[in-house]
Amino acid sequence: MESAATRTAKPGRTAPSRRLEAIPPYMFAELERRVSAKRAAGIDVISLGIGDPDEPTYPHIVEAMRVAVGDPANQNYPANRGREEFRAALAGYYARRFGVELDPNSEAMPAIGAKECIYNLCFAFCDPGDVVLVADPGYPVYTGGPTLAGAEPVLLPLRPELGFAPDLDAIPAAALERARLLFLNYPNNPTGAVVPDGLFERAVALAHDHDLLVAHDNAYSEITRDGYVAPSFLETPGAREVGVEVFSLSKGFNMTGWRCAAIVGNADAIELYWRLKSNVDSGLFDAVQLAGVAALQPEVDEQVRAMNAIYQRRRDLVCAALADAGVRVTPPKGSIYIWAPVPDGFDSAAAYCEHVLEQAAVVISPGSAYGASGEVFFRISLTTPDDRLLAAVERIRRL
Ligand SMILES: Cc1ncc(COP(=O)(O)O)c(C=O)c1O
Repeated sequence: MESAATRTAKPGRTAPSRRLEAIPPYMFAELERRVSAKRAAGIDVISLGIGDPDEPTYPHIVEAMRVAVGDPANQNYPANRGREEFRAALAGYYARRFGVELDPNSEAMPAIGAKECIYNLCFAFCDPGDVVLVADPGYPVYTGGPTLAGAEPVLLPLRPELGFAPDLDAIPAAALERARLLFLNYPNNPTGAVVPDGLFERAVALAHDHDLLVAHDNAYSEITRDGYVAPSFLETPGAREVGVEVFSLSKGFNMTGWRCAAIVGNADAIELYWRLKSNVDSGLFDAVQLAGVAALQPEVDEQVRAMNAIYQRRRDLVCAALADAGVRVTPPKGSIYIWAPVPDGFDSAAAYCEHVLEQAAVVISPGSAYGASGEVFFRISLTTPDDRLLAAVERIRRL
């Protein structure tokens, strides 16, 4: 690559850096702009695009925040390592919920949302020339993060016949030789799949054999249905030696705006993440950490269960309506998404989603935004009230 020292012409004042130019604009940012323009023109757009819970944060979490924010002791720079109470609450939650014992001093620290954590892990561990193994389709930051860090994302197709697992045996040897990180995510965005049997065990073995770090993104562990309870990657024997887990309060506790998450697991990896972050940001607002403590208490379990009943109802409504329209989907057990095949007659997911937006004023996400393997799929988010969700699906059905 041409370096700044060797390039012949200096880029213009507002030209992007090469690393920024190497990634496409974040899909939802562009979509938001278009939806705002339509709404400004008086069009009733229903968005089933972004996965942003429509139900409010549970009241006692809001109350804990209200109290914490009024206390001057919480108004200074937080420590990047996180408050003792927050780390202890994480350890308590992991013990109660997953049966995983964490050392709150070395095996847990806050993150300013899972997105920040995933992105910064790439900078903590990767140099130009390194490889990051990422699911295709997958949350876009798994590819954007490595690209911005100068590393190369190598896509692992999620195979429907393997329960949307990547075939770890099919990873090219050359990629494994350079791989520093493997990102996994179950319950999965965008497919809604839950972790297939044996995948975490195979990932631990791969990480041992090839000296790489597994980063399991557990953003949806609390959103499951049909009696399924999602595990933590750290329950897998040997996982703590080779991996970390990113745990987010965004989706499971209706707290997307709060930016409250954590990294747990391998102490050496967390130490490096901390070292990077101490140069990049100044930690998670203490009041948000104290609200996080309130969220992780046992009395919240009932509210999470009630929220899951809402998602189960919505999932069933949408799957039934799609079946009526001739679109067959397997009802997903986890996350807040329906992953459905693009109907016949459209040669790409983008073309279909464009058609739905223009003709039905409904936003759905093209599967291609999550990777090449998503090209013939679209994603519906269940984070819209039932009546609007049904109205949107009816508009799509009538097209
Ligand atoms: C798989 C996955 N990980 C992480 C995130 C972001 O989580 P947070 O709000 O904690 O940054 C999302 C958001 O959609 C996601 O789908």
